Amino acid sequence: MKKNLVFAANWKMNQAPADAGAFMRTFLGQYARQQDRRVLFFPPAVSLHVVVQAIKERADLEAGVQNIHWEDKGAFTGETSGSLARGAGARHVLVGHSERRHVFGETEEETGKKVAAALRAGLTPTICVGETLTQREAGLTIDVVKRQLRAAVSGVDAAVVATTIVAYEPVWAIGTGKNATPQDAGEVHVAIRAELRAIAGERGAAVPILYGGSVNRSNVDALLAADEVSGVLVGGASLDAEQWLAIARSG
Ligand code: 13P
Repeated sequence: MKKNLVFAANWKMNQAPADAGAFMRTFLGQYARQQDRRVLFFPPAVSLHVVVQAIKERADLEAGVQNIHWEDKGAFTGETSGSLARGAGARHVLVGHSERRHVFGETEEETGKKVAAALRAGLTPTICVGETLTQREAGLTIDVVKRQLRAAVSGVDAAVVATTIVAYEPVWAIGTGKNATPQDAGEVHVAIRAELRAIAGERGAAVPILYGGSVNRSNVDALLAADEVSGVLVGGASLDAEQWLAIARSG
Protein backbone atom coordinates (compact mmCIF):
# COMPACT_ATOMS: atom_id res chain seq x y z
CA MET A 1 0.00 0.00 0.00
CA LYS A 2 1.27 3.47 -0.86
CA LYS A 3 1.42 6.09 1.89
CA ASN A 4 1.41 9.88 1.91
CA LEU A 5 -0.83 10.11 -1.11
CA VAL A 6 -1.83 13.54 -2.43
CA PHE A 7 -5.13 14.23 -4.19
CA ALA A 8 -5.15 17.73 -5.67
CA ALA A 9 -8.12 19.51 -7.26
CA ASN A 10 -7.23 22.27 -9.74
CA TRP A 11 -10.45 24.14 -10.38
CA LYS A 12 -8.79 26.42 -12.94
CA MET A 13 -11.07 29.38 -13.87
CA ASN A 14 -14.21 27.83 -12.34
CA GLN A 15 -16.17 27.90 -9.04
CA ALA A 16 -17.18 31.36 -7.87
CA PRO A 17 -17.32 31.80 -4.06
CA ALA A 18 -20.95 30.63 -3.83
CA ASP A 19 -20.21 27.52 -5.93
CA ALA A 20 -17.06 26.81 -3.94
CA GLY A 21 -19.04 27.07 -0.70
CA ALA A 22 -21.71 24.64 -1.93
CA PHE A 23 -19.02 22.23 -3.17
CA MET A 24 -17.19 22.27 0.16
CA ARG A 25 -20.38 21.65 2.13
CA THR A 26 -21.10 18.54 0.03
CA PHE A 27 -17.51 17.36 0.21
CA LEU A 28 -17.03 17.90 3.94
CA GLY A 29 -20.36 16.26 4.72
CA GLN A 30 -19.14 13.02 3.16
CA TYR A 31 -15.34 12.94 3.30
CA ALA A 32 -13.85 11.41 6.46
CA ARG A 33 -10.15 11.80 7.14
CA GLN A 34 -7.98 9.00 5.76
CA GLN A 35 -4.57 8.58 7.41
CA ASP A 36 -2.70 7.73 4.21
CA ARG A 37 -3.50 10.92 2.26
CA ARG A 38 -3.95 14.67 2.01
CA VAL A 39 -6.48 16.43 -0.18
CA LEU A 40 -5.49 19.78 -1.69
CA PHE A 41 -7.78 22.37 -3.27
CA PHE A 42 -6.61 24.95 -5.80
CA PRO A 43 -9.62 27.26 -6.24
CA PRO A 44 -9.48 30.48 -8.24
CA ALA A 45 -8.01 33.22 -6.03
CA VAL A 46 -11.40 34.90 -5.51
CA SER A 47 -12.74 31.71 -3.89
CA LEU A 48 -9.68 30.89 -1.78
CA HIS A 49 -11.11 32.45 1.35
CA VAL A 50 -14.27 30.34 1.18
CA VAL A 51 -12.25 27.13 0.88
CA VAL A 52 -9.79 28.15 3.62
CA GLN A 53 -12.66 28.87 6.00
CA ALA A 54 -14.40 25.60 5.14
CA ILE A 55 -11.34 23.44 5.91
CA LYS A 56 -9.91 25.29 8.89
CA GLU A 57 -10.69 22.46 11.35
CA ARG A 58 -9.25 19.78 9.04
CA ALA A 59 -5.51 19.02 9.09
CA ASP A 60 -5.87 16.59 6.18
CA LEU A 61 -7.25 19.24 3.81
CA GLU A 62 -5.19 22.16 2.49
CA ALA A 63 -5.70 24.97 0.01
CA GLY A 64 -3.52 26.79 -2.46
CA VAL A 65 -3.50 29.21 -5.37
CA GLN A 66 -3.00 28.39 -9.04
CA ASN A 67 -0.26 30.93 -9.75
CA ILE A 68 1.81 33.67 -8.12
CA HIS A 69 4.08 36.46 -9.29
CA TRP A 70 7.80 36.09 -8.61
CA GLU A 71 8.12 39.44 -6.88
CA ASP A 72 7.09 39.71 -3.23
CA LYS A 73 5.20 43.00 -3.58
CA GLY A 74 4.93 46.18 -5.60
CA ALA A 75 3.30 47.81 -8.60
CA PHE A 76 2.20 44.71 -10.53
CA THR A 77 -1.46 45.36 -11.30
CA GLY A 78 -3.50 42.20 -11.45
CA GLU A 79 -0.89 39.93 -9.89
CA THR A 80 -0.84 38.04 -6.58
CA SER A 81 2.39 37.48 -4.63
CA GLY A 82 3.25 34.46 -2.56
CA SER A 83 3.00 36.45 0.66
CA LEU A 84 -0.46 37.80 -0.28
CA ALA A 85 -1.62 34.26 -0.98
CA ARG A 86 -0.06 33.00 2.26
CA GLY A 87 -1.76 35.80 4.15
CA ALA A 88 -5.10 34.72 2.68
CA GLY A 89 -4.58 31.19 4.00
CA ALA A 90 -2.93 29.43 1.05
CA ARG A 91 -0.37 26.77 1.93
CA HIS A 92 0.36 25.67 -1.64
CA VAL A 93 0.78 27.05 -5.15
CA LEU A 94 0.85 25.48 -8.60
CA VAL A 95 3.91 26.58 -10.56
CA GLY A 96 4.57 26.03 -14.24
CA HIS A 97 1.19 24.57 -15.07
CA SER A 98 1.07 23.80 -18.79
CA GLU A 99 -1.65 26.44 -19.27
CA ARG A 100 0.70 29.03 -17.75
CA ARG A 101 3.51 27.88 -20.04
CA HIS A 102 1.52 27.40 -23.25
CA VAL A 103 -1.40 29.84 -23.00
CA PHE A 104 0.40 32.64 -21.16
CA GLY A 105 3.91 32.06 -22.48
CA GLU A 106 5.52 31.53 -19.08
CA THR A 107 9.18 30.63 -19.53
CA GLU A 108 11.28 28.09 -17.64
CA GLU A 109 13.20 30.99 -16.12
CA GLU A 110 9.97 32.56 -14.81
CA THR A 111 8.86 29.21 -13.44
CA GLY A 112 12.14 29.00 -11.52
CA LYS A 113 11.64 32.49 -10.10
CA LYS A 114 8.10 31.57 -9.01
CA VAL A 115 9.31 28.42 -7.23
CA ALA A 116 11.86 30.52 -5.30
CA ALA A 117 9.18 33.14 -4.50
CA ALA A 118 6.78 30.45 -3.27
CA LEU A 119 9.37 29.03 -0.91
CA ARG A 120 10.27 32.51 0.40
CA ALA A 121 6.60 33.04 1.20
CA GLY A 122 6.23 29.71 3.00
CA LEU A 123 4.13 28.10 0.26
CA THR A 124 4.73 24.57 -1.00
CA PRO A 125 5.12 24.71 -4.77
CA THR A 126 3.64 21.95 -6.88
CA ILE A 127 6.01 22.07 -9.85
CA CYS A 128 4.20 21.02 -13.01
CA VAL A 129 6.15 19.47 -15.88
CA GLY A 130 5.08 17.74 -19.07
CA GLU A 131 5.77 17.29 -22.74
CA THR A 132 3.69 18.27 -25.77
CA LEU A 133 2.50 15.64 -28.24
CA THR A 134 5.19 16.72 -30.73
CA GLN A 135 7.86 16.29 -28.09
CA ARG A 136 6.52 12.85 -27.10
CA GLU A 137 6.43 11.71 -30.72
CA ALA A 138 10.01 12.90 -31.16
CA GLY A 139 11.09 10.76 -28.18
CA LEU A 140 11.92 13.82 -26.08
CA THR A 141 9.57 13.25 -23.13
CA ILE A 142 12.16 12.39 -20.49
CA ASP A 143 14.57 15.11 -21.64
CA VAL A 144 11.81 17.74 -21.53
CA VAL A 145 10.51 16.90 -18.07
CA LYS A 146 14.03 16.68 -16.62
CA ARG A 147 14.94 20.04 -18.14
CA GLN A 148 11.75 21.67 -16.84
CA LEU A 149 12.36 20.23 -13.37
CA ARG A 150 16.01 21.36 -13.28
CA ALA A 151 15.02 24.88 -14.41
CA ALA A 152 12.25 25.08 -11.83
CA VAL A 153 14.54 24.28 -8.90
CA SER A 154 17.72 25.92 -10.18
CA GLY A 155 17.65 28.61 -7.50
CA VAL A 156 16.74 26.30 -4.62
CA ASP A 157 18.90 24.42 -2.07
CA ALA A 158 18.81 20.65 -2.46
CA ALA A 159 17.36 20.24 1.04
CA VAL A 160 14.50 22.55 0.14
CA VAL A 161 13.76 20.72 -3.12
CA ALA A 162 12.77 17.82 -0.87
CA THR A 163 9.87 19.91 0.51
CA THR A 164 8.21 20.48 -2.87
CA ILE A 165 5.65 18.47 -4.85
CA VAL A 166 6.09 17.58 -8.52
CA ALA A 167 3.23 16.96 -10.95
CA TYR A 168 3.72 15.22 -14.28
CA GLU A 169 1.03 16.46 -16.65
CA PRO A 170 1.53 15.52 -20.30
CA VAL A 171 0.17 18.51 -22.24
CA TRP A 172 -1.64 16.29 -24.74
CA ALA A 173 -3.58 14.63 -21.90
CA ILE A 174 -4.93 17.77 -20.26
CA GLY A 175 -8.64 18.30 -20.81
CA THR A 176 -8.60 15.99 -23.82
CA GLY A 177 -9.99 12.78 -22.35
CA LYS A 178 -6.72 11.07 -23.39
CA ASN A 179 -4.79 10.03 -20.33
CA ALA A 180 -1.33 8.46 -20.35
CA THR A 181 -1.45 4.72 -19.80
CA PRO A 182 -0.36 3.73 -16.30
CA GLN A 183 2.77 2.25 -17.89
CA ASP A 184 3.64 5.46 -19.77
CA ALA A 185 3.00 7.52 -16.66
CA GLY A 186 5.07 5.12 -14.56
CA GLU A 187 8.07 5.40 -16.91
CA VAL A 188 8.09 9.17 -16.66
CA HIS A 189 7.53 9.13 -12.90
CA VAL A 190 10.48 6.76 -12.43
CA ALA A 191 12.66 9.15 -14.47
CA ILE A 192 11.45 12.13 -12.39
CA ARG A 193 12.23 10.23 -9.18
CA ALA A 194 15.76 9.50 -10.45
CA GLU A 195 16.22 13.18 -11.27
CA LEU A 196 14.96 14.23 -7.83
CA ARG A 197 17.48 11.87 -6.23
CA ALA A 198 20.23 13.28 -8.45
CA ILE A 199 19.29 16.79 -7.31
CA ALA A 200 18.49 16.21 -3.62
CA GLY A 201 20.05 12.83 -2.76
CA GLU A 202 18.03 10.44 -0.61
CA ARG A 203 15.75 13.30 0.40
CA GLY A 204 14.48 13.32 -3.19
CA ALA A 205 12.68 10.07 -2.36
CA ALA A 206 10.19 11.99 -0.18
CA VAL A 207 8.85 14.32 -2.87
CA PRO A 208 5.33 13.32 -3.97
CA ILE A 209 5.06 12.96 -7.76
CA LEU A 210 1.47 13.44 -8.93
CA TYR A 211 0.02 12.45 -12.29
CA GLY A 212 -2.36 14.85 -14.05
CA GLY A 213 -4.23 14.78 -17.35
CA SER A 214 -7.82 13.52 -17.82
CA VAL A 215 -7.88 11.70 -14.48
CA ASN A 216 -11.39 10.57 -13.53
CA ARG A 217 -13.07 8.12 -11.17
CA SER A 218 -12.72 5.29 -13.72
CA ASN A 219 -8.99 5.54 -14.43
CA VAL A 220 -7.65 6.83 -11.10
CA ASP A 221 -7.02 3.45 -9.45
CA ALA A 222 -4.92 2.14 -12.34
CA LEU A 223 -2.90 5.38 -12.47
CA LEU A 224 -2.30 5.35 -8.71
CA ALA A 225 -1.00 1.80 -8.97
CA ALA A 226 1.73 2.82 -11.46
CA ASP A 227 5.37 3.09 -10.38
CA GLU A 228 6.20 6.23 -8.41
CA VAL A 229 2.73 7.75 -8.80
CA SER A 230 2.08 9.31 -5.38
CA GLY A 231 -1.19 11.03 -6.18
CA VAL A 232 -3.16 12.90 -8.81
CA LEU A 233 -3.73 16.49 -9.94
CA VAL A 234 -7.20 16.72 -11.39
CA GLY A 235 -8.91 19.43 -13.42
CA GLY A 236 -12.32 18.76 -14.97
CA ALA A 237 -13.27 15.79 -12.80
CA SER A 238 -12.58 17.78 -9.62
CA LEU A 239 -15.38 20.26 -10.37
CA ASP A 240 -18.14 17.85 -9.43
CA ALA A 241 -18.23 17.15 -5.69
CA GLU A 242 -19.50 13.58 -6.05
CA GLN A 243 -16.85 12.66 -8.60
CA TRP A 244 -14.15 14.36 -6.56
CA LEU A 245 -15.26 12.41 -3.48
CA ALA A 246 -14.91 9.16 -5.43
CA ILE A 247 -11.44 10.15 -6.65
CA ALA A 248 -10.24 11.34 -3.24
CA ARG A 249 -11.25 8.01 -1.70
CA SER A 250 -9.56 5.86 -4.34
CA GLY A 251 -6.22 4.06 -4.34
P1 13P B 1 -7.92 17.72 -16.64
O1 13P B 1 -8.05 16.77 -15.46
O2 13P B 1 -9.15 18.50 -16.90
O3 13P B 1 -7.36 17.01 -17.83
O4 13P B 1 -6.82 18.81 -16.20
C1 13P B 1 -5.62 18.37 -15.69
C2 13P B 1 -4.88 19.53 -15.14
O5 13P B 1 -4.43 20.39 -15.88
C3 13P B 1 -4.76 19.63 -13.69
O6 13P B 1 -3.86 20.62 -13.33
